[in-house]
Amino acid sequence: MTRIRILPEILSNKIAAGEVVARPASVVKELVENSIDAGSTRIIVEIEQGGRKLIRVSDNGQGMGRDDALLCLERYATSKIATDPDLFAIRTLGFRGEALPSIASVSRFTLISRETDADVGTQIEVAGGRINKVSDAGAPPGTLITVAGLFYNTPARRKFLKSIDTEMGHIADTIASMALCRPAVQFRLSHNNRIVKSWAPAAEPMDRVADVLGAAIKKELYTVDRATADIEVSGWVASPRMNRSTARGIYLFVNGRWVKDRVIQHALFAGYSGRLMKRQYPVSVLFLRVPFDQVDVNVHPTKHEIRFVRQKMVHDTVRDAVVDALRQSDPTRWKANEPRSTELVQGPATVSEPHAEYEMPSTHDHSFTQVGDAVDRKAASSDHAAGAENRQKSVPSADPVTIPAPPIDPTACYGKPAHQALLWKPRFFADLTVIGQYKGTYIICESQDGLMLIDQHAAHERIVFEQLKRHYNARRPAAQRLLLPETIDLGFRETHILEKLAPELDRFGLEIEPFGGNTFVVKAVPTLLDSSGISGLVTQLVEKTAELGVGAEMETILDECLMVMACHNAIRAHQQLTGTQIKAMLEQLDACDNPSHCPHGRPIWIQWRVKDLEKQFQRIV
Ligand SMILES: Nc1ncnc2c1ncn2[C@@H]1O[C@H](COP(=O)(O)OP(=O)(O)OP(=O)(O)O)[C@@H](O)[C@H]1O
Ligand SMILES: [Mg+2]
Repeated sequence: MTRIRILPEILSNKIAAGEVVARPASVVKELVENSIDAGSTRIIVEIEQGGRKLIRVSDNGQGMGRDDALLCLERYATSKIATDPDLFAIRTLGFRGEALPSIASVSRFTLISRETDADVGTQIEVAGGRINKVSDAGAPPGTLITVAGLFYNTPARRKFLKSIDTEMGHIADTIASMALCRPAVQFRLSHNNRIVKSWAPAAEPMDRVADVLGAAIKKELYTVDRATADIEVSGWVASPRMNRSTARGIYLFVNGRWVKDRVIQHALFAGYSGRLMKRQYPVSVLFLRVPFDQVDVNVHPTKHEIRFVRQKMVHDTVRDAVVDALRQSDPTRWKANEPRSTELVQGPATVSEPHAEYEMPSTHDHSFTQVGDAVDRKAASSDHAAGAENRQKSVPSADPVTIPAPPIDPTACYGKPAHQALLWKPRFFADLTVIGQYKGTYIICESQDGLMLIDQHAAHERIVFEQLKRHYNARRPAAQRLLLPETIDLGFRETHILEKLAPELDRFGLEIEPFGGNTFVVKAVPTLLDSSGISGLVTQLVEKTAELGVGAEMETILDECLMVMACHNAIRAHQQLTGTQIKAMLEQLDACDNPSHCPHGRPIWIQWRVKDLEKQFQRIV
């Protein structure tokens, strides 16, 4: 007697449902995708009790005749692919032919469908995968599917359902995603007979984005637009100031399919790099178009995961497209886009209107590690002790800022050429009228558009960060040899890390050599860095690298090291600066690729527009 048997279809459908139908929102996703594939222009979703009690999706798509309506409940029955090659060039959202039978196997399922030119529709009633009744039904063209008592026959699954609010939240997210990539389709979502969302067909994709994400964000969106022979990336990225604490504001689509893809998400974060702080997530809507044979959507039953044939190309194009788009949020770029005429008086915001109300950043809770306070590099480099002492005092007013203005360099990342547009950098910060310094911490400036506050530490950190990076890329670090080399003793693990890190640090001009056992000696220091307290800094670099873990990429490690070094060297808060020093700093800020955020992602400046100030003083209504 054989022990192995083929499972009955109802049971295999239930097993498939385990993957396809995780929760009510997955049912909604599958049904709405079918409606979209059927060419519907109106999709109505009705939910009761967070989907536990009822999920109903009706559409005005092409509908099904009786034979098709019966067939669609069979496993592997699909109208969307027919041959092997079809599987590698999928143009529809569905293709597996398993969603409906899976859903019908774990619910009380009713399907009513009518083809546009048919006189009558068909109604099929199914319970737990068994067809109970098939009849004619009067119905409008299109399809209506009702899923009642989800998981009523699989109590173990029902137990995993979360609260009504949570499940409803997932459903609303699902509809929002679908609505974002199908702006011409009308969507309506109701819960317990009350309309929750209703999206009219939108003439412009941006109108739908504003509908879904909220009108307030519209002014804060920057257009993403990049096309190569292999890929098109379009959509919007929101100003970093609109960040969220979860990834729920990130919507990614590939060839019209809503996906949760790690490669694109990583590229998006890489594009925002230096503009967001830890645990901040961007808000973005990105559409990728790649040739159908360049993406495998048959990776997981939920079809959320995909695989690109040329993953790195996709990653780098998305990252660069996001970087480009976010540059529009930097004040130098407002000016770069402006006609160089008297229209300039209109102020930067005439171009992208990025700032409606207060230019308040959303985060203020950043604390820096206090590793050094040097401003006067000359003093510090010629005499450690004197340098250390200088750091405690405010800088004498005659002292010029000793950081040389960096040459404009077309390299933005390690060894990678930046976009050509960067070669020409307009002045923005250097043209500001400096009013003064507030609390020895913020520089108050007048811009054409309003009143600006610049955080001097954040600004200087950014400047030093980018200068060090340029030196690294140019492989010509300006370093000074230490008269008395400093020794560092490390633990076993740290020794191992520094052995690996040292050749890279050498490219910054930080020369460290092994001195036997766990001891190292620092022989030279980049001129941009204060050499006093250098052993503390190196220890910090090693600790930071250890924190990142063994799997971290060298680029990430170097960025973190640069942040530590920049912070070590940047001028501090509560530090009086002279007019010359401020001016030099503003000029150097203009030369930065990202003059809006410190390397940790904290904002460098905030602005109040004249218009908003006048409104507050009730000069205008
Ligand atoms: N709303 C609808 N309007 C018209 N036809 C539909 C609708 N829903 C389903 N169908 C038909 O039923 C078939 C089966 O649907 P089902 O969702 O089970 O599989 P699929 O969409 O082909 O693939 P997948 O399992 O990947 O979703 C579809 O191929 C389609 O022909
Ligand atoms: Mg389907």
